[in-house]
Amino acid sequence: MTYAIVYSSKTGNTRLLAETLRDTLPADDCLYCGTPSDEALRAARIYVGFWTDKGTCDADTATFLSRLTTQEVFLFGTAGFGGAPEYFDKILSAARQNLPDSVTVCGSYMCQGKMPTAVRTRYEAMEDSPRRQMMLDNFDAALSHPDAADLTRLQNAVQNG
Ligand SMILES: Cc1cc2nc3c(=O)[nH]c(=O)nc-3n(C[C@H](O)[C@H](O)[C@H](O)COP(=O)(O)O)c2cc1C
Repeated sequence: MTYAIVYSSKTGNTRLLAETLRDTLPADDCLYCGTPSDEALRAARIYVGFWTDKGTCDADTATFLSRLTTQEVFLFGTAGFGGAPEYFDKILSAARQNLPDSVTVCGSYMCQGKMPTAVRTRYEAMEDSPRRQMMLDNFDAALSHPDAADLTRLQNAVQNG
């Protein structure tokens, strides 16, 4: 089956997932690998990767998803907040809202992705509270992600998708 890998990545986390997919899937069937582009639309299956912006996929990915017609889609993404699978599910279903009904989602995967130091500096400037501490702890937990285990889980999700 022909496929394309389309991804949007500001700081490299989602790109790492996309590169893992590129190295995992059969190279001969790949029609396109790169940032959102209509070139990808001729593939039968499109692996679409996004970074999380305000609880949903980033705007470039949202625009791309709305341009799909009858392709199969595997959605993957990274988010700064990890630890709660329900949060990932919420982001994925928000991202799916951009897809026309004619598109089939054949699988999805999300993991945590590290955030820029400026984010921690902003948290540090906040008044001390359990919420501030939770955000600092989350920031520190995110620093090692995506890690090798995240990438293996992505590979497994794709092989089952
Ligand atoms: C403007 C902005 C908004 C963000 N909004 C969220 C958010 O709502 N939820 C979340 O979990 N992470 C959020 N993040 C964190 C990124 O989604 C996360 O670090 C992601 O892994 C970045 O992926 P990239 O390296 O591929 O760009 C936000 C980051 C930025 C810069």
